[in-house]
Amino acid sequence: MIIAVDGPAASGKGTLATGLARHYGLPHLDTGLLYRAVGLAVGEREDGPEFERAAIAAARALDAAHLSDIEALTSAETGVLASRVAVIAEVRAALFAFQRDFATQPSGAVLDGRDIGTKICPDADVKLFIQADSKARMERRAKQLEQRGVLVDRYALYHQIEERDARDMLNPHGGFYKADDAHLLDTTLLDIEAALRAAIEIVDRTMALKAGGD
Ligand code: C5P
Repeated sequence: MIIAVDGPAASGKGTLATGLARHYGLPHLDTGLLYRAVGLAVGEREDGPEFERAAIAAARALDAAHLSDIEALTSAETGVLASRVAVIAEVRAALFAFQRDFATQPSGAVLDGRDIGTKICPDADVKLFIQADSKARMERRAKQLEQRGVLVDRYALYHQIEERDARDMLNPHGGFYKADDAHLLDTTLLDIEAALRAAIEIVDRTMALKAGGD
């Protein structure tokens, strides 16, 4: 079984994907970490040919070892850098094989990101598209960061999330939209447990329908 979980920044998709993977005993890949690792490798530079060259080289050289510095990878600044490298077609192409290999392992898998249901796994058994309003998403991300002892400027964080959403949605190579066969799950008013219950219900219902139809 392949489960695709897509949604905007801090929508809860990562937490849901982790919960689904645990529930169904499947391996999980947070594909945002790949873009974050590339962004982190490139670092702060002006947009331009040099930035692009460095991003493409970093994407081609990426391996699992680059995904371990979770603290640096998950910062809000790295998120913005990730969304800047994510608009480069060659970066996306270089990361495609890594994601496909993960998705097609015999055990099945849960992948979360922006384009899993549309580009990486258009054939996924179950697709979830997670949404939540921007204020709720900012508040969740702020709490996550505060739990790690990071001092949060909510105003700046809100704008970082909005900036990232805009760039992701306008990304011509991004594939960030709800696939026709994706199930929409709005988590604005749901806590983690309720959102996970709703997601499991969707997965079970979809798999039962598929089994009935086969
Ligand atoms: O999911 P997360 O917020 O960690 O992703 C960081 C950035 O990586 C996103 O804002 C987006 O620009 C990019 N991304 C992407 N496609 C994916 C996953 C992430 O373009 N499948």
